[in-house]
Amino acid sequence: MRLANRVQQLPPYLFVEISRKIAAKRAEGKRVVSFGIGDPDVPTPTPVLERLAEASRDLPNHRYPETEGLPEFRRAVADWYGSRFGAALDPATEVMSLIGAKEGIGHIALGLLDPGDIALQPDPGYPVYNVGTLFAGAEPHWMPLLEENGWLPDLDAIPAAVAERARVLWINYPNNPTGAVAPLEFFERAVAFAKLHDIVLLHDACYTEVAYDGYRPVSMLQVPGAKDVGIEFHSLSKSYNMTGWRLGMAAGNPEVIRALFLVKSNIDSGVAQAVQQMGIRALETPDEDVDLRNQRYQVRRDRVIDALAGLGLRVTPPKASLYVWAPVPPGHTSATFATAILDDLDIVVTPGSSYGVHGEGYIRLYLTLADEDLDEGVRRLASWKLPDPKATG
Ligand SMILES: Cc1ncc(COP(=O)(O)O)c(C=O)c1O
Repeated sequence: MRLANRVQQLPPYLFVEISRKIAAKRAEGKRVVSFGIGDPDVPTPTPVLERLAEASRDLPNHRYPETEGLPEFRRAVADWYGSRFGAALDPATEVMSLIGAKEGIGHIALGLLDPGDIALQPDPGYPVYNVGTLFAGAEPHWMPLLEENGWLPDLDAIPAAVAERARVLWINYPNNPTGAVAPLEFFERAVAFAKLHDIVLLHDACYTEVAYDGYRPVSMLQVPGAKDVGIEFHSLSKSYNMTGWRLGMAAGNPEVIRALFLVKSNIDSGVAQAVQQMGIRALETPDEDVDLRNQRYQVRRDRVIDALAGLGLRVTPPKASLYVWAPVPPGHTSATFATAILDDLDIVVTPGSSYGVHGEGYIRLYLTLADEDLDEGVRRLASWKLPDPKATG
């Protein structure tokens, strides 16, 4: 059977070898500790689950939802954007529900890109931006994210001929995989760049509610005029520990929202209404509850960073996101170091090179594992003697 070029051109699934090794270790009865999987171990808040129980008995919720989402959910999103970021949104035309942000991020390319168009994408970056670009038959132009630039793309370095053909610019702060945050001035520059070149600005803001040390990440929609040029993708997955329920939202420019609607209404039938009602309840979560959850992650962040410091690895504590992005020791690549950690310690970390060539030289550790696994992982790292790079291949 011949598969479409579209799927054959996809980059190979990067965790195949790691998954094989994990399975082999588990088969030997070894306890593998994974810092590789980004799925909150903290449960969905109880009031949100109670709302689902009620909503599941409501007959209209047994029927097809509307693609764009329940008016009440869109209103709740607009209200949340207003109170959290001071951003004004018309729930009727500027907000849409998504089956998780990933779904919208993948689909928007089909509404905005044609073959021959360019998408400006971060390297390293969340892989779904590029998958959408490839599925639409368009081309990526990679913007390196470098430590010396605070992991922000240098928009001035984009060649004029590329900017001319570019139709979309992807940005993502708090960032996966680097954990970096962006100040409002960066969003102002991105909005100005998008305006100048007539490019749609697409901001993936999924981690704004996971932040530490009192830091409050900003939204692109706080920039005056941002709504003229683009939309923001957001998600309830990480904000309220709801990955399994699949609920996200797109907010911003009504034409871009309409492009997404045209794609989605021809492919899916929207988010289960009972899940959107959970979302309405989740968006009412008091700040204190979100802060308490973040404090748990912050303790984990600090313990992981201490353990890595014990190995001589210099790590900047992230102000937000669920990631610790650590440089590998001299002489190692991302892959040799991740392999050494797996072989010697039965610990899974993700090689930074999986997220793009500029991720080389780093590993990523996720903070969503259970506390007892974190204890065990930190204990193993603390007792480890760094291997000679030549001995690992
Ligand atoms: C940067 C980024 N964007 C989007 C998503 C997808 O979020 P959702 O669960 O809402 O689909 C993730 C998930 O890990 C992510 O890391």
